[in-house]
Amino acid sequence: MQEISIDGERLNRELTELAGFTQVEPSPLGTAVTRVVFTADDLRARAWLMGLAEEAGFSVRVDAVGNTFIRWEGSEPELAAVATGSHVDAIPHAGMYDGTVGVMGGLEAMRALKAAGFVPRRSIELVLLTSEEPTRFGIGCLGSRLIAGTLAPEKADGLVDLLPGAEAGSTLATVREAAGFRGSLEGVRLAVGHYDGWVELHIEQGPLLEREGLPIGIVTDIAAPAGYRFVIEGVGGHAGALLMPDRKDALCAASEVILSVEKHVLAANRASGTSNTVGTVGTCEVHPGAVNSVPSRVTLQLDIRDTDPVRREGVMQAVRTDVAEIAAARGVTIAETMVNADAPATSSEKIVAAIEVACGGARLPFKKMVSRAYHDSSFMARICPIAMIFIPCRAGVSHRPDEYASPSAIMDGTRILASTLATLASD
Ligand code: GLV
Ligand code: MN
Ligand code: MN
Ligand code: MN
Repeated sequence: MQEISIDGERLNRELTELAGFTQVEPSPLGTAVTRVVFTADDLRARAWLMGLAEEAGFSVRVDAVGNTFIRWEGSEPELAAVATGSHVDAIPHAGMYDGTVGVMGGLEAMRALKAAGFVPRRSIELVLLTSEEPTRFGIGCLGSRLIAGTLAPEKADGLVDLLPGAEAGSTLATVREAAGFRGSLEGVRLAVGHYDGWVELHIEQGPLLEREGLPIGIVTDIAAPAGYRFVIEGVGGHAGALLMPDRKDALCAASEVILSVEKHVLAANRASGTSNTVGTVGTCEVHPGAVNSVPSRVTLQLDIRDTDPVRREGVMQAVRTDVAEIAAARGVTIAETMVNADAPATSSEKIVAAIEVACGGARLPFKKMVSRAYHDSSFMARICPIAMIFIPCRAGVSHRPDEYASPSAIMDGTRILASTLATLASD
């Protein structure tokens, strides 16, 4: 094989083109990208990617939830393939690198290996995973959960469409059907061992690599995420006429719930002497949502993560105690639903070692690190050995329009991904 040459100019041009599949939303922080799963922008991005894959000579398969498998057949196609991939959906008002670097970097890595005359023994697949972000259906990593079998197909199909303005009764089943992804979700699941290995390239979404001047992070562990929904029912009424002593304001109760989360997460960090526990109430839906109407119902979505799922559960128990007290004191009801409570994931030593060798070959220093963001890799880990390659992003900023990774950082990561795939596909 000749030396692997990454076409950085093409890769960054394609990333910019992909960022164009969005509603144009000027923002003081930069051009915001919003690409919610199964919206017109997401479908256009998928069609465009499939076109590039076919142009490069790879075959494409799409499953019933829209997971898209771009395959380069190896010389021994009966062997389990090695896979890479990530997501192209983006939360509202996001940047243009989260997920997309892993997808476009994966395609570029495969094209570069092909151009270098590499002949893979194991097939190599690039997988675009559906809805890594929880924006539309309330749960992240939808496609990879279904692949791993950690989300039951009938439960998945019943997930309610949370898109603002969604028709009543709109669920994953109706939305995916309308988007052209038909058939039973049963067929999405892949057997343990279906892949020989999985490696995902991603921006760090944190500040450590940039701060330490390192071009590459090798992820050894992915923190365990959980999601909960709280529905607070109080009593509404006229904002002028309903007197303060008579109120059961659902939003006031919700505010106390939000602060309880913050209080117990901070207490967990003080107790552990780390910052490993994080908790965020990221949405708050107020009914009826009128300035002159006392809120009667509030729905909160809570995202809580920890490297230690037992400690995470301890925080939830403390929050539940407060929730019971808040409900009693304010005369409201508060119902909790667990959306997901996942385990952490650990990388494979073999794949981590392959990435280390790739870094050595490219003379790129690296550090081993924990991912505090979750990724589809967390669920791919249920069916095969995994690892992740991180590249620095400016100031560690992500999930914001000013998210930025430099073209040279993206090229470095893609080069490491390509040589890691070459090693794994030769094994
Ligand atoms: C996924 O984007 C996450 O929130 O970690
Ligand atoms: Mn994200
Ligand atoms: Mn991501
Ligand atoms: Mn993520």
